[in-house]
Amino acid sequence: MVGDHMRLLVTGGAGYIGSHTVIELIGAGHDVVILDNLSNSHTVVIDRISEISGTRPTLVVGDIGDAELVDSLLSEHSPEAVVHFAGLKAVGESVAQPLRYYRNNVAGTISLLERLDAHDIRTLVFSSSATVYGEPESLPITEDAPVWSVNPYGETKVQIEHILSDLAVSDDRWRFAALRYFNPVGAHPSGRIGEDPPDIPNNLMPYITQVAVGALDRVMVFGDDYDTPDGTGVRDYIHVVDLARGHVAAIDALGDRSGFHAWNLGTGVGTSVLELINTFRSVNEVDIPYEITPRRPGDTAASYTDPAKAERDLGWKAQHDVADMCRHSWRWQSRNPTGYRG
Ligand code: NAD
Ligand code: WQD
Repeated sequence: MVGDHMRLLVTGGAGYIGSHTVIELIGAGHDVVILDNLSNSHTVVIDRISEISGTRPTLVVGDIGDAELVDSLLSEHSPEAVVHFAGLKAVGESVAQPLRYYRNNVAGTISLLERLDAHDIRTLVFSSSATVYGEPESLPITEDAPVWSVNPYGETKVQIEHILSDLAVSDDRWRFAALRYFNPVGAHPSGRIGEDPPDIPNNLMPYITQVAVGALDRVMVFGDDYDTPDGTGVRDYIHVVDLARGHVAAIDALGDRSGFHAWNLGTGVGTSVLELINTFRSVNEVDIPYEITPRRPGDTAASYTDPAKAERDLGWKAQHDVADMCRHSWRWQSRNPTGYRG
């Protein structure tokens, strides 16, 4: 039954946010089967999840777009609800390879939804993103702000949200939560799982940790002439464990709600690039050389949420501050200097 301890399918559960969420779902008493094609993750993650949580989730290696495989997984495990993380997420790559992004993210999700419908599974929590707010017109961002995108990756999130919302209109048995994440950073406090980008990181926090560990020279600060207090970009960083707990709360909330619902998951606190670098330096006592460079095309000056709707509907609120995020990101990177490939 939705809302109770449930059997859950977690797509993309071997990835960064998925692995942290699987730990919280197991901790809340749910049974988890992961479907992941390992295109951006490693099987060793499953060992670490089981070490931290004391329970080994089942891993099915395969693609969300493989209808035959998904059918047999659904028949064998009969999950009652789905947490859907599987997707490609690099903005620059999506500009260079849009068809790959639309195929993997949008077509993959359509195929998954068709199989779920056929098996009468109609509760799903979707990994959306603050990127669906394009360039926000006003701050803080609330869920009723216009949804549009500035790149193909963002467009896949917008399109999937529309598909979910149309489905919910077509049949009131569907229950959807689109969780719009702000900037997920940090790692499990054990230091055993964390973010492990395959190449030079695109995102700020993994870039900082790689500078700290000596793999990269210095952080490039993309612009110091924004209309923000210190001129550098402001974002709403959220600890990945808080984010993970937001999924547990969303699964519970769908127990007594049908239809499509969007919730922003962030702290409501804006932090600039220089503030993040300086906090990282001071809590970890490690030097982070940096250099101011021109703005990165497509970046907005500031983005942060009003977290009130999530707090009201989900009974969820982020607990960790930016100092914790820096501490835990560094614990993960310093203990695993080459990530899961070590
Ligand atoms: P990640 O790459 O670490 O995790 C995604 C997982 O999905 C990986 O393990 C990958 O192997 C798997 N996967 C990808 N395509 C698949 C497919 N077709 N079939 C099966 N498995 C597939 O990324 P993450 O940072 O954990 O992000 C998880 C989700 O959250 C993504 O949908 C992403 O777009 C979204 N999101 C991430 C961020 C962020 O900054 N990390 C922000 C907002 C939203
Ligand atoms: C944060 C701030 C940069 C790197 C991206 C995606 C978004 C979402 C989260 C998935 C900005 C600055 C960055 C660097 C820098 N992903 N920066 N030097 O751009 O807010 O969001 O990840 O949904 O869709 O666009 O995150 O970490 O890349 O940047 O100065 O090397 O750090 O300009 O102000 P962003 P980010």
